[in-house]
Amino acid sequence: MLLKFVLASFVLLSSIRDGSAGMTSSFVRTKWPSEDMPVDHEVFAIPKGYNAPQQVHITQGDYDGKAVIISWVTPDEAGPSHVQYGTSKSNLQTSKEGTVANYTFYNYKSGYIHHCLIEGLTHNTKYYYRIGSGDSARDFWFQTPPTIGPDTPYKFGIIGDLGQTFNSLSTLEHYLESGGQAVLYVGDLSYSDEHEFEDVGLRWDTWGRFAEKSAAYQPWFWNVGNHEVEFMPEVFCVALVENVREKYSSPLWYAVRRASAHIIVLSSYSAFVRYSPQYIWLKEELARVDREKTPWLFVIVHKPLYSSNVAHYMEGEAMRSVFESWFVQYKVDAVFAGHVHAYERSYRYSNIDYNITGGRRYPVPDTSAPIYVTIGDGGNLEGLASSYLDPQPEYSAFREASYGHATLEIKNRTHAVYNWYRNDDGKRVPADSLVLLNQYW
Ligand SMILES: *[C@@H]1O[C@H](CO)[C@@H](O)[C@H](O)[C@H]1NC(C)=O
Ligand SMILES: *[C@@H]1O[C@H](CO)[C@@H](O)[C@H](O)[C@H]1NC(C)=O
Ligand SMILES: *[C@@H]1O[C@H](CO)[C@@H](O)[C@H](O)[C@H]1NC(C)=O
Repeated sequence: MLLKFVLASFVLLSSIRDGSAGMTSSFVRTKWPSEDMPVDHEVFAIPKGYNAPQQVHITQGDYDGKAVIISWVTPDEAGPSHVQYGTSKSNLQTSKEGTVANYTFYNYKSGYIHHCLIEGLTHNTKYYYRIGSGDSARDFWFQTPPTIGPDTPYKFGIIGDLGQTFNSLSTLEHYLESGGQAVLYVGDLSYSDEHEFEDVGLRWDTWGRFAEKSAAYQPWFWNVGNHEVEFMPEVFCVALVENVREKYSSPLWYAVRRASAHIIVLSSYSAFVRYSPQYIWLKEELARVDREKTPWLFVIVHKPLYSSNVAHYMEGEAMRSVFESWFVQYKVDAVFAGHVHAYERSYRYSNIDYNITGGRRYPVPDTSAPIYVTIGDGGNLEGLASSYLDPQPEYSAFREASYGHATLEIKNRTHAVYNWYRNDDGKRVPADSLVLLNQYW
């Protein structure tokens, strides 16, 4: 039924593509004010018990999904830093020691930040894990991904610029209903830097407790946005990315493979010009992509390369001019970005054949190009970016300034169903849907 609906919308969208330009939705969403939820809101509740672990989150700890990094914070003392885990809830037979760190910022003390890398897991297996000790111990679980393979189905969620307002809560709750198995996070997490002094750190802690509901049970693939790099105390992001650095010798950009997807995470806030470390790395990583094993190739980055929103207009141009020709050459399926607090999806367009005297300086339809999705609409306290360029550029297929999240459900090597859900009076309503046909197969 859903697929039928999706196919119908795809036919509609395809016919739009041949004729007129894209669509600007007139939907207006102002249900809740753009303010952070109060610190004493139940979603920020501190778990009971002395030194109880909080802000629990996991991410993939290796290239192919046989390792996870489990991270958490204990408030009172460093305490035990090990994770007990196993495939049976009643028999957590294996224990692995993690690392601990802490920092101060103004009068704020971070608590003790733990990271534990667990390797050698079996694919497609449910693991239970316990952290903390005695009465304060807490139990969680996660499911490892299936073995890498071309027709392995998998469902990703895509969230960006989430923050911690009531709109953010709506987005997270809707995502939890979606059946997504892992989150591609396009940057800007807590927006704690909008708060001053010790509240900066405090709002990292509240955000960590808020996101735990999902992030403790399935990996979130992090990407660094401007709200992570402009201020210092990144409990969540940089501390976490540090772990990734150990594995990929790179803190801010990395790649993982999961099920039938190869995911490349880029940093908008690190050098990417020719012969910079990120440039050299990406060139090598794209050459490593094996579409026979992982047919789906996605790129995550914070600043959009194509966006017709007035907010942050053209900020992604520099990276576009450096990387876009590779995205076309390697037939990237989709590029997901955040930064702009609204939603937009492009047609397959490119602007790599640049010749001013020849008159070629505009994006043109290109069947080898990725689609570009801007999904910085998680719902943070800065509110929506509701002003768009008019007329809508030809590359822009659909745009709407409201809050939401997306899912990307890979069916097999040729088909994936993509849906963007708007938060509509507390309901999740599919508002932009299409079937993605793989660019390689
Ligand atoms: C970190 O933890 C140690 C050991 O408990 C403590 O002595 C120190 O003051 C803490 N440092 C910060 C920056 O909170
Ligand atoms: C740019 O276009 C002009 C006019 O068509 C052409 O003479 C020139 O060779 C082109 N330059 C490049 C680098 O393709
Ligand atoms: C992939 O899935 C789609 C939609 O479910 C189906 O129509 C198609 O035949 C499948 N292709 C392969 C190669 O199995």
